[in-house]
Amino acid sequence: MKNVGLITGASSGIGMELAKIHALKGRDLILVARRVDELMKLKIELETAYNVQVEVLPMDLMKENAADSLFQLVQEKNIQVDYLFNNAGLGGYGKFHERDLKKEREMIQLNIIALTELTHLFLPGMVQRKSGKILNTASTAGFLPGPMQSVYFATKAFVVSFTQGVAQEVCNDGVTLTALCPGPVKTEFEKAAGMEGSSLFKSATTAESTARKGYRAMDKGKLIAISDNSLKFALNWVLPFAPRKLVLKMIQNMQTIK
Ligand SMILES: NC(=O)c1ccc[n+]([C@@H]2O[C@H](COP(=O)([O-])OP(=O)(O)OC[C@H]3O[C@@H](n4cnc5c(N)ncnc54)[C@H](OP(=O)(O)O)[C@@H]3O)[C@@H](O)[C@H]2O)c1
Repeated sequence: MKNVGLITGASSGIGMELAKIHALKGRDLILVARRVDELMKLKIELETAYNVQVEVLPMDLMKENAADSLFQLVQEKNIQVDYLFNNAGLGGYGKFHERDLKKEREMIQLNIIALTELTHLFLPGMVQRKSGKILNTASTAGFLPGPMQSVYFATKAFVVSFTQGVAQEVCNDGVTLTALCPGPVKTEFEKAAGMEGSSLFKSATTAESTARKGYRAMDKGKLIAISDNSLKFALNWVLPFAPRKLVLKMIQNMQTIK
């Protein structure tokens, strides 16, 4: 296999679109998620359409040590990962003190721990080869606190910060890290987060255009890709100057399901 991209969360949404772009470029793939049927369907579609090699490695990344198991499987198959897409993630709606702590823990495991561990496992090889790219799917949620999804927003703040810190550490080693920061996107995320009916997703963009912007930014080695221009403007030029309590109230209102 060559120019291999390992994509977590490839069974739907942004991850599936990243896989299509990667295959369109003639690059091989390892697809990771829990739903085997969806991954197998995508494998057949991509191998048929683009003449690439696609490996399916089903894995529940909420399980402790899942990243180690995944890395082990990749080693056993003797595959070199040139592109790592840490994309799997999920949200969770509700007031923090009323939410099930187990669900918050699982979210942290998936959105933070698995992403950190996979980066730690695959990055040394990239640095040694002086070549490699990592695209971490964060969110515009990573730039602000998020009442009604407090843990989710905090996990994405971690991803934004972590990605930039490590990117600087390896900037002379031929390896780049990019944080993809989308606003609302029409995917299965809304349902998985228990947010169906939230006004937030009324103006949501497509997974395809989000993945395209993220992939382009990764190819160029950019640090951050905010895929929604109006949100980018608001985050850079409006919200930092507004009173913090007003901003928090606004975010809470935007997210609350009425
Ligand atoms: N949609 C949005 O509005 C939005 C906005 C900003 C950022 N994001 C971020 O974008 C990323 C992709 O989300 P999406 O919008 O494309 O949502 P999605 O359609 O729900 O995709 C989530 C992907 O993650 C996988 N996944 C979930 N739990 C997993 C687990 N325990 N182990 C392994 N894989 C798991 C899912 O596959 P299986 O269910 O098959 O495991 C699926 O492929 C996430 O990190 C999300 O936080 C989304």
